[in-house]
Amino acid sequence: MQKLLRIDSSSRVTGSQSRELGDYFETKWKAARPDGQLIRRDLAIEPIEQIRQDTITGFYTPADGMTEELKSATALSDKLIGEVQAADTVLITTPIYNFGVPASLKAWIDQLVRIGHTFSFDGANFGGLAEPDTAIVCAAYGASGYEEGGPFRAANFLEPYLDFLLKFLGIPTIHFITVQATTADAVTVEAGMAQARKDVDRLIASIAA
Ligand SMILES: Cc1cc2nc3c(=O)[nH]c(=O)nc-3n(C[C@H](O)[C@H](O)[C@H](O)COP(=O)(O)O)c2cc1C
Repeated sequence: MQKLLRIDSSSRVTGSQSRELGDYFETKWKAARPDGQLIRRDLAIEPIEQIRQDTITGFYTPADGMTEELKSATALSDKLIGEVQAADTVLITTPIYNFGVPASLKAWIDQLVRIGHTFSFDGANFGGLAEPDTAIVCAAYGASGYEEGGPFRAANFLEPYLDFLLKFLGIPTIHFITVQATTADAVTVEAGMAQARKDVDRLIASIAA
């Protein structure tokens, strides 16, 4: 049975293009996998705490040295890591905010990226320890020109960042479904969403059920 972990991060819980693309992907994914299991985490409805000093201390403390305080400080990280490690595929929906990922998603990432759990370091080399083999990122951009060769490409810190990070964690295959110009007129927005839905259809057809 395939497991999909869905992470939503737009502060808009209604009228969000990235969530709408995620809904479309989810529907198609489920249709292709009737016994597939979906786990959802909504970072706007249930915001993730920022990591604190004791969280970081816990991250770097060996298991036999963990006090009750440190266990409690890293309990949320344990839970979020557990959700990722149980998944085959991770679906992240995200807006671009100020040229990068929203703070809600960064807070989740800061709890997730943890030595000995989602990555290893032997003093010389890093290795990814994440179990999922695929991540899909549905991203919405208010402006346009962020594509390869576009005038805003250099300001696209979202895609290169998530691509690098997810691969760093050991997820080998990352797919981006993007819609740009979401702050334009309704006709332009619908044309962009229609194209993105086609991109989802193609992606769904290309990934094994
Ligand atoms: C706080 C904030 C910052 C934003 N920063 C950018 C930006 O840097 N570049 C851009 O193209 N659009 C920017 N936008 C527009 C959003 O990316 C756009 O509205 C997108 O559709 C939001 O995703 P959503 O539809 O899933 O909510 C910003 C919007 C907000 C609210």
